Amino acid sequence: MKSDEIRARFLEYFRKRDHKIVPSSSLIPHKDPTLLFTNAGMNQFKEVFLGKEKRPYTRAASSQKCMRAGGKHNDLDNVGLTDKHHTFFEMLGNFSFGDYFKKEAIEMGWELLIEGYGLPEDRMLVSVYQKDDEAYNIWSKDIGVDPSIIYRLGEKDNFWAMGDTGPCGPCSEIHYDRGKEFGCGRPDCSIECDCDRFFELWNLVFMQYKRDEKGELSPLPSPCIDTGMGLERLATILQGAKSNYENDLFRPIVERLLELGNLEQGASRKEDIAIRIIADHLRAITFAVSDGVMPSNEGRGYVLRRIIRRAIRQGQLLGFAEPFLYKLTGLVAHIMRNPFPELMDSRDFVARVCLAEEERFHTTLTQGIKQVEEVLEKVESSKGTIVPGGELFRLYDTFGVPLDLVEEIAAERGLTVDHKGFKQHLEGQREKARLAWLEGAEEDVKDVYRKLAPRIKTTFA
Ligand code: SER
Repeated sequence: MKSDEIRARFLEYFRKRDHKIVPSSSLIPHKDPTLLFTNAGMNQFKEVFLGKEKRPYTRAASSQKCMRAGGKHNDLDNVGLTDKHHTFFEMLGNFSFGDYFKKEAIEMGWELLIEGYGLPEDRMLVSVYQKDDEAYNIWSKDIGVDPSIIYRLGEKDNFWAMGDTGPCGPCSEIHYDRGKEFGCGRPDCSIECDCDRFFELWNLVFMQYKRDEKGELSPLPSPCIDTGMGLERLATILQGAKSNYENDLFRPIVERLLELGNLEQGASRKEDIAIRIIADHLRAITFAVSDGVMPSNEGRGYVLRRIIRRAIRQGQLLGFAEPFLYKLTGLVAHIMRNPFPELMDSRDFVARVCLAEEERFHTTLTQGIKQVEEVLEKVESSKGTIVPGGELFRLYDTFGVPLDLVEEIAAERGLTVDHKGFKQHLEGQREKARLAWLEGAEEDVKDVYRKLAPRIKTTFA
């Protein structure tokens, strides 16, 4: 089943059950300074959950553009290393604003997966919040799921919050077992394991609380439902793909990349990871720039810049000596043109922004990386494990290599970086610059007065 059909089937299922189909909101959260990027389908309904805003409907469903890079929910560092984590992804979700609650949410979710998509029941597992007997009983008694596959898990896995404050609540997750061949092989491998055997497919959140700045919970005006299922994961399962990078959302990007770079998959683990990172980041770049995020040195613009630079570096590892990302953003727009036709309008703009950033960073990176390698070799040959702050600062100050990039390259070699030392050097330099500026300013002023003085006549009234 093609991903366009998977998305349509999801929305149609809920439309038939009186849900208003709501378009995805932008990746730039609307009037919400607590969020860097839209990170879940429920973001656009935050005020509705909190009871501060009323909508003409009490049930909704959407396919939401999400970005989990920077901020509370951050998958940036996992990208490429797993089959299932992404910076940008689409979240299919259904919502109830004081309408139905746990029982209906679980029943509908289960019915859609088993009957709507035809997923085999014997591959499914579920988890509930450890204290949530109600959800446990719905799964075991009403749905009839074997208690041996219902896991009671703690807050880390089964309590969801969009940020440090705002609506939140216990949740129940539906997992899919892809089979031992995708697993880590450890005897205790289960849905709690980080490996690629189990895909956490759908998260059903029972929104009941609001968390304030002090971290205290108070009940929402009425209990609500917020669910989210990653389209990319569902597509992988339904298409029998080996990883998300093999499904129809990613495969054409990977193929074009291989063609452009004259590459083959399976040459080395490092190269395979690089290919995945680039494919992931291309989607993030295309969607973010199309939604109006521009590369910059702060906030979400910085996260975007980091993503572009990371993709450039991975490209260099694959042998791309010239800008290349900009040649692929149009393909992303083309693949996603049905659900997001606006991508086709911004296609040229996105490519231009990408090229400008690539041109800017290419030279810095080529020279800078050599320096980074030298520094890391020095650390390794002296049997150290931490890159000293002074070196980090020199790389940054003289060669323009950002700290997070050094950190990433260092991590690939099992090394860490001295953040504190770097900060001290940075502050030291700022202080020096400030003093130099003050001295300079004083001299300038003195100079001005010196020149003016003979020409000014002082008059006393
Ligand atoms: N908000 C929940 C999540 O992101 C369910 O959509 O997992």
